[in-house]
Amino acid sequence: MKILAKLAFAAAALVAGSAAAQTYPAKPITMIVPFAAGGPTDVVARIVTEHMSRTLGQQIVIENVGGAGGTTGTTRASQAGNDGYTIMMGHMGTHGAAPALYPNLKYDPSKDFEPVGLAAGTPILIVAKKAFPAQDLKGFVDYLKANGDKVNQAHAGVGSVSHSTGILLTSQVGTKTTQVPYTGTGPALNDLVSGQVDFMTDQIVNVAEQIRAGTIRAYAIATPSRSPALPDVPTTKEAGLPQYEVSAWNAIFAPKGTPAEVVTKLNDALVKALADEGTRKRLLDLGAVLPEKNEQTSAWLGDFVAKEVARWTPVLKAAK
Ligand code: MLT
Repeated sequence: MKILAKLAFAAAALVAGSAAAQTYPAKPITMIVPFAAGGPTDVVARIVTEHMSRTLGQQIVIENVGGAGGTTGTTRASQAGNDGYTIMMGHMGTHGAAPALYPNLKYDPSKDFEPVGLAAGTPILIVAKKAFPAQDLKGFVDYLKANGDKVNQAHAGVGSVSHSTGILLTSQVGTKTTQVPYTGTGPALNDLVSGQVDFMTDQIVNVAEQIRAGTIRAYAIATPSRSPALPDVPTTKEAGLPQYEVSAWNAIFAPKGTPAEVVTKLNDALVKALADEGTRKRLLDLGAVLPEKNEQTSAWLGDFVAKEVARWTPVLKAAK
């Protein structure tokens, strides 16, 4: 009799679960952004979720959870309920670089999440305070080599995009700097503008407006070709550091076990946001690279995350 009761209970739970997935979302959704408000991940999250909320008919509420290079918020997301009401905006740091830099990382980027979809590619720039004593990338590199740890390098914590792309740069240049960690490159940018910190490598969606306003210096963009959003900023190849080519990305994830119907609804809302002219314009104006249609599926993101972890692990172990 007991086994029958168990089977009946399991069947009821299954029916309830799929019924909940069918009515999803029935209440607001929380999106964890594992960095401070105002930074690149937060900016991408707020732009895409504004349109996603309209499609889903429920507000997606951003919760900024900073710390430990984004792994604090990412760990929290990995342990959240998998009913679809807690999701996150991750990126090349949280779901690519972190495993190489955190031996005891409490989550596996591939195993502990359901990939929802890629939101934006974010090219990396080498940016410095306005008063930095170098007129071009060659002068910047020479200054780094000559002054090493007298130079303050901002980043968003070990394993973040700004940290991992930063140690890649300093290891290629062959120097060590003084690292200044923040809870996100939003706050770091404030200190760069005020001259409290010397330089950082950061995502274009965070620094494009300040570069255009002339409040910080941009020595180069680390992509093969220039950004249409910043046509006057040379590539690292043009500026004499061709080996420094690196780009980042931001993507939406749900906790492992989130029902497929829920993931599909979230992906559908993201795809519609990326097709919306207004959303596209806001992202493109900030220099984001929009995913191609084939890059917008959950399956594509799942494969991509596995490749990113495999790509960054040897690079960062060597850089350390
Ligand atoms: C941010 O949003 O602050 C950045 O994505 C942090 C980083 O990874 O550099």
